[in-house]
Amino acid sequence: MTEEAGARCAVIIVAAGSGERLGQGMPKARVPLGGSTMLAHAVNGVVKAGIAGQICIAVPAGDQEMVELCGELAAAHAEQPDLVWNVVDGGADRTASVRAALAMVGPDISTVLVHDAARPLTPTGVFERVVAALRDGAKAVIPALAVVDTIKTVVPAEFPATGAGVEKVSGTPARSRLRAVQTPQGFELETLRRAHAYAATLVPAEAAQITDDAMLVEAMGGDVFVVQGSTHSLKITTPMDLLLADAMLQGPLRPRWVEG
Ligand code: C5P
Repeated sequence: MTEEAGARCAVIIVAAGSGERLGQGMPKARVPLGGSTMLAHAVNGVVKAGIAGQICIAVPAGDQEMVELCGELAAAHAEQPDLVWNVVDGGADRTASVRAALAMVGPDISTVLVHDAARPLTPTGVFERVVAALRDGAKAVIPALAVVDTIKTVVPAEFPATGAGVEKVSGTPARSRLRAVQTPQGFELETLRRAHAYAATLVPAEAAQITDDAMLVEAMGGDVFVVQGSTHSLKITTPMDLLLADAMLQGPLRPRWVEG
């Protein structure tokens, strides 16, 4: 990635989640991981990838500790004086947090990557594949992995004899065509802006179904291209995920933790 091309890419890091499912009593991004914090790993991964001219971090609204942490991370990367940093208050859901950060994207930017702070171990190769796809003309691109489990859809149901509430299977999509989607997701700036303008028109019940930015592009009829993700980009949601990520960083798995 040349410096000139890098200067035109902004990376939004959404770190405004509560981390309730992780149960650490603090926002997920501040949770300790491998001697620092989850956010530090996510930010360092973005900087190391060398693809960002601007980094916009969405933090829980009013969380001064998180703002200070972002300041420390920016200071730790003073070797890149041209890198622009912004910290914004996130919103009530992920989409609102992305929208708040998107408002900070500078006029020199033409492409935006949206990355979850909850995927702190994403390898450089994934960032590079997403950026390369944008350079190849994709207006929306996601990293993804083939799924190993059989996935079924379900609907609410009742057991015939007791009437007890349960779920029953309504379908089984062909596994060979299913992908588990990760971040960073890459977009041409205008496409992401239009996607979020569209999101702002959704009624709350529809908005609640939006779990990533690519869904918005799909809903507008846009093509979303797929590049190879990485098993190292695991999303840290539960205490088990945190154990695994810690093991990858400092435990017996470390010698095997190679970029992929
Ligand atoms: O909770 P969820 O799986 O949607 O979180 C994915 C990412 O979105 C996390 O990095 C989290 O910090 C972020 N998020 C956010 N603002 C919210 C909710 C989640 O930035 N209101």
